[in-house]
Amino acid sequence: MMAEQARVAGEEALGDAVDILKRGGLVAFPTETVYGLGADACNPAAVRRIFAVKQRPTNHPLIVHLAAASQLTQWAHAIPDVAWRLAEQFWPGPLAMILPRHPDVPLAVTGGQQTIALRIPDNPLALALLRQFGGGIAAPSANRFNHVSPTQAAHVLSEIGDRIELILDGGNCRVGLESTIVNLSGREPQILRPGHITAEQIADVIGQKVCFPSRVETRAPGTLALHYAPETPSVLCTQSELLHHLEQCLAEKRRVGILSCRDYPQDEGRVYLQKMPDDPVAYAHDLYAALRQLDQLGLDTILVDAVPDDENWLAVNDRLRKATAAARV
Ligand code: TXA
Ligand code: MG
Repeated sequence: MMAEQARVAGEEALGDAVDILKRGGLVAFPTETVYGLGADACNPAAVRRIFAVKQRPTNHPLIVHLAAASQLTQWAHAIPDVAWRLAEQFWPGPLAMILPRHPDVPLAVTGGQQTIALRIPDNPLALALLRQFGGGIAAPSANRFNHVSPTQAAHVLSEIGDRIELILDGGNCRVGLESTIVNLSGREPQILRPGHITAEQIADVIGQKVCFPSRVETRAPGTLALHYAPETPSVLCTQSELLHHLEQCLAEKRRVGILSCRDYPQDEGRVYLQKMPDDPVAYAHDLYAALRQLDQLGLDTILVDAVPDDENWLAVNDRLRKATAAARV
């Protein structure tokens, strides 16, 4: 039997969204980073539905979204002073903090871990939903496990529209990449996932160096290869590699997509260029929609032109590496 498609609606559906959450249902909603798939974080059965819909392993912890920093004490304990300072400076905003979990928090939310990820999103619909609902909303990105995160309501509809009741439509996400995750539960603050808010900005506020753990140590599943990946085999390459691969693909009559800030000639319907902005913030904003556009064309290969390897491009580089981790030309 074909399942019905989710209703897509704006502010007028906030009341219904709150009712659905209170009944243990799922609501997708916009944040400034990407769309989230929300459930009542205090309801383990509702939280388990998130994992089922996303087809995500249940030991992968979720981020709990709050309306106000004063709620932190209900979700975390032994909250260090630096957490309050970061909340003050960056919330609402694209920063998730990992803290020791409050003993009342269901383990379903934290994937069995003794820590919890918390953030206040900077989006008017998300904030209205959180305020009207009153409690914490557990929400991973509203995509199937390992797939590209959604930055538009239409993306959510195509990913999981047949499995949820309601998608709140807030247009395009302003930032376009998932939040920065900073772990404050260990001895030293660590960035587990780079994002719009940089390690330097965090260090400035807390007056302490912030490090990036080595790959092996990291537990965050968002750091696994294969995350954020389009279905089309995608390869990250330097400009000269790209030209070489392009030639090879065309010789083999393959249809190719190119994601690049540069111009490349488009060839008789066999080469599709997704031209990207050359500013890292604008690039981040467009990235997931651009990958989806190329993915929809059913191409044989996507060639991703490398971006500069500097601080400003850190979050974009992180996602590009993950999106291209699995494929070879
Ligand atoms: O921007 C965002 O953070 C979006 C929007 C919807 O808020 N959410 C998001 O959620 O990206 P998700 O589930 O796709 O990614 C959450 C990341 C995962 O990599 C998870 O491992 C990590 O947060 N995480 C959550 N709780 C954690 C914990 N206790 N310890 C370590 N990592 C944790
Ligand atoms: Mg995700």
